[in-house]
Amino acid sequence: MTRSIFSDYRIGNLPLDNRIVMAPMTRGFADNETGEVNYLIADYYGKRARYGAGLIITEGIAINELAKGTYGIPGIYTHRQTLSWQKVTREVHQYKTKIFAQLWHVGRVSHQEILNGQTPVAPSPIGASGHVHRLRKPFQAPRALKNTEIYQIIDDYRDAARNAMEAGFDGVEIHAAHGYLIDQFISEKTNNRQDEFGGSLQNRLRFLDLIIKEVKKVVPKNKISIRVSEKKDDDKGYVWKYPEEMVCAITEILSKHQLKIVHPSVENYGDTLQNDQRSLHELFRQYWDETLIAVGNIAPNKGAVIVGDNQADLVAFGQLFIANPDLVIRLKANQEIFPYQTKDQLKCLI
Ligand SMILES: Cc1cc2nc3c(=O)[nH]c(=O)nc-3n(C[C@H](O)[C@H](O)[C@H](O)COP(=O)(O)O)c2cc1C
Repeated sequence: MTRSIFSDYRIGNLPLDNRIVMAPMTRGFADNETGEVNYLIADYYGKRARYGAGLIITEGIAINELAKGTYGIPGIYTHRQTLSWQKVTREVHQYKTKIFAQLWHVGRVSHQEILNGQTPVAPSPIGASGHVHRLRKPFQAPRALKNTEIYQIIDDYRDAARNAMEAGFDGVEIHAAHGYLIDQFISEKTNNRQDEFGGSLQNRLRFLDLIIKEVKKVVPKNKISIRVSEKKDDDKGYVWKYPEEMVCAITEILSKHQLKIVHPSVENYGDTLQNDQRSLHELFRQYWDETLIAVGNIAPNKGAVIVGDNQADLVAFGQLFIANPDLVIRLKANQEIFPYQTKDQLKCLI
């Protein structure tokens, strides 16, 4: 049978209507004080579901009060935030689309003015370079987490995941990419801890490992996606010295936990890594037999090729889903697909 981007797909007992995924995208339209989401946000996701997205992964959602890095970030750590997400999941589920909550903690990539006067936290007191989105002030130097605080954050991930399931999400994606908190533990550049969370790669991956262990207690293992990346939003030149070693170490953890979905993030799908002859997705394909999500500036007509050639199982589009709420219809009908226009389209939810 030929593999088609429009054919249905199963991740264990989770059926998807097709293989098209809406990539997680921060939009900043939640209530900044409460972290609750409103009916406009429900309508925004609902529209993508109505027009046939197979799986939606939400924007990054703060797992506790120190997790956010700009204004308007939704949360999923209070009861009211959890209730507010029910609007979204109800809307999306009218159309058979599945929706995962992306669980996010930005760590050092923040500022006390975003965090009600509290200092950002990180594995080590190493500052990020760059400016806080919308606040336009430099990232604030973080304080290092105490060992006991790390275990508390791991519990916060579990509690947020439990809330996500209560809110009606089909699953969660753990955001371990792009230079945010989990990635700050993984990267040797941002982690010089001396305890069990620092030093060897295995130790640096322990935070992710323990988060998965906790989240698995409340979310079925086929409904947990892990997003990882070499690229860091706050450190554009960063590359992995040994990409194969990194991919092997990550897939080993995911396999140990019997997870089923990995979502490696790159700027441009298919680009060869600086320190390997393969692309990040090729590397994962080699070491990961379960569901692999392709993403990264994928041209509309390329998605079918990626699935057809078995390069990946699902194909995620980000910006094109902002510009074309009916992207799936347009892809199916071979209709014009509008390019994403940051300036106009980021300011509003259409
Ligand atoms: C406005 C915007 C917000 C984003 N926010 C997130 C986010 O919250 N979490 C995340 O993992 N990636 C985020 N990304 C990255 C996207 O998920 C995706 O990987 C990236 O846009 C590449 O796919 P594309 O070229 O199809 O847009 C964001 C991208 C954009 C454009």
